[in-house]
Amino acid sequence: MRIRSVEYAGTIAQPGGEPPGSLPQVAFSGRSNVGKSSLINTLLRRTRNKIAHVSSTPGKTQALNFYRVNDGFFLVDLPGYGYAQVPQSVREQWAELIEWYLGESGLVKGVVHLVDARHRPTKHDHRMVEYLGELGLPTLIVLTKMDKLRTREGEQSIARAIEELKLEEAQLVPFSSKTGRGREDLLDALAELVGLEEAGE
Ligand code: GTP
Ligand code: MG
Repeated sequence: MRIRSVEYAGTIAQPGGEPPGSLPQVAFSGRSNVGKSSLINTLLRRTRNKIAHVSSTPGKTQALNFYRVNDGFFLVDLPGYGYAQVPQSVREQWAELIEWYLGESGLVKGVVHLVDARHRPTKHDHRMVEYLGELGLPTLIVLTKMDKLRTREGEQSIARAIEELKLEEAQLVPFSSKTGRGREDLLDALAELVGLEEAGE
């Protein structure tokens, strides 16, 4: 898939909010600081003129942010979770929003869940993958920050994620926002998720 156009399309801050249109949606999730905004900017080639906010304050993205891509689908940036310094009440609001969006809105074609390649998948990663399985939502796991690992460590991280999260190999995409590794693979997988494949995208 080639990216021809990207624009910020809107935000949902509360369960029940209206999406900015009826195009298919792919959601991106992962804990704060995992590299989600960086990945979105790299994916959409917005490294110079950034579209998703790369924060120095983790946990800053607190709503669902919609980006319209190629006038064909929405890429949806979910709020980061699990940042220790965020009060419990705020964390519960995040969970409520994400559960409504993934479970009840009926709008999501698939989810890309990000895991930091340097760390073992957390309890939350396990729960998220299980939850998406229960919902029957196609799931891709992206291992972020691969550039921070040596080749051998990277291979071990990939094998560990596949084994521990019980993934099919094709569900896992190693990625680096720094080197662009995995960008094409992820774009192809996204095109397939949203059904743009046949259109020669
Ligand atoms: P929140 O919005 O706070 O939830 O964080 P996020 O998941 O959007 O992470 P963000 O993209 O803001 O990146 C967090 C930090 O990791 C930043 O300092 C980035 O520069 C760094 N980072 C992100 N991706 C990569 C990567 O692929 N390689 C390296 N070396 N650093 C990265
Ligand atoms: Mg972010």
